[in-house]
Amino acid sequence: MSDASCPSRALMRPAATVLENREVARDTFRLRLGDPEIARRILPGQFVMVRGAAEGTDDPLLGRPFALYEVQRDESGEPVSFDVVYLVIGRGTAALSRRKPGDRVAVWGPLGNGFGPSPGSGSALFIAGGIGQTPFLALGRDWLGRASYGDRPKPESETPVDSATLLYGVRSAGLLAGVEDFERAGIGVEIATDDGSAGRLGFVTQLLADRIQAGERPAKVVACGPPPMLAAVARLAQAHDIPCDVSLENHMACGFGACFSCVTPILQDDGRPDLRRVCVEGPVFPAHRVDWSRPSH
Ligand SMILES: Cc1cc2nc3c(=O)[nH]c(=O)nc-3n(C[C@H](O)[C@H](O)[C@H](O)COP(=O)(O)OP(=O)(O)OC[C@H]3O[C@@H](n4cnc5c(N)ncnc54)[C@H](O)[C@@H]3O)c2cc1C
Ligand code: FES
Repeated sequence: MSDASCPSRALMRPAATVLENREVARDTFRLRLGDPEIARRILPGQFVMVRGAAEGTDDPLLGRPFALYEVQRDESGEPVSFDVVYLVIGRGTAALSRRKPGDRVAVWGPLGNGFGPSPGSGSALFIAGGIGQTPFLALGRDWLGRASYGDRPKPESETPVDSATLLYGVRSAGLLAGVEDFERAGIGVEIATDDGSAGRLGFVTQLLADRIQAGERPAKVVACGPPPMLAAVARLAQAHDIPCDVSLENHMACGFGACFSCVTPILQDDGRPDLRRVCVEGPVFPAHRVDWSRPSH
């Protein structure tokens, strides 16, 4: 078991200080946590568990998983804090949205496997549905060679991608969060909304289909969002032989491999599904390995 996924280590982590918790779009908050150790170690696609409970209370008891959005550094380049961006859905995220700068919240991580190295030259397409854009800011900066994350030096042999584009679909314009962050990072953004209030009217998968139809062949497609969107992206990528990874957002209770609440069937070499813990073996999986016929993700 890796250091990061050791349960006792995770449970014993001290609370982190909330430095900022600001609404950035409808029901969507950017939370900055002062935790230099996590900031130094976390990689794009990894996540942290954060408990929204006020200090000294235990409601909610369980943490909730959130992907790394971005890391902040001090003047000497040392990582000092990190951000997650979250949509208020239920009890855990509602409690988190009430935390103020100076509050302390329980946080453990970094957790999960992350996205891995750049696919090399060529383009990267990130497909996000709903709040699924959050892991792609750090990933885009990493793969474009504009930032590095984690405490292991990047191998010199790793070639950056030539371009990175986020295809970003939400129900309505008010839910778009952080578009300017992506643009500032040099990541192109194309938008689709269900109601036509911004970008193209319709599903984000149509933006991908149109690009493929026009002859675009990205070096890699990476998707994060609701399972039906992920399944559609996986089908398109497989039909056109484009490498594709997905980041799954299964419900999680512990985040470090102990409770099995997050398992999902993953196809093995012989084509048979076997249950894997999304918090440890994932959340990122090759799209063709996910058993899309089973409703556990
Ligand atoms: C690896 C990982 C990374 C994630 N990163 C982010 C992120 O960066 N930003 C973000 O906003 N969210 C992210 N999520 C999802 C986030 O953890 C859930 O939205 C959150 O746990 C909801 O907690 P809650 O207490 O507000 O809702 P709850 O009270 O726990 O649930 C409210 C309702 O929403 C449903 N629900 C809760 N979670 C999910 C889910 N994951 N999928 C479908 N339905 C759900 C429940 O069934 C329930 O009906 C991530 C999830 C995973 C696994
Ligand atoms: S969330 Fe507990 S095993 Fe994955």
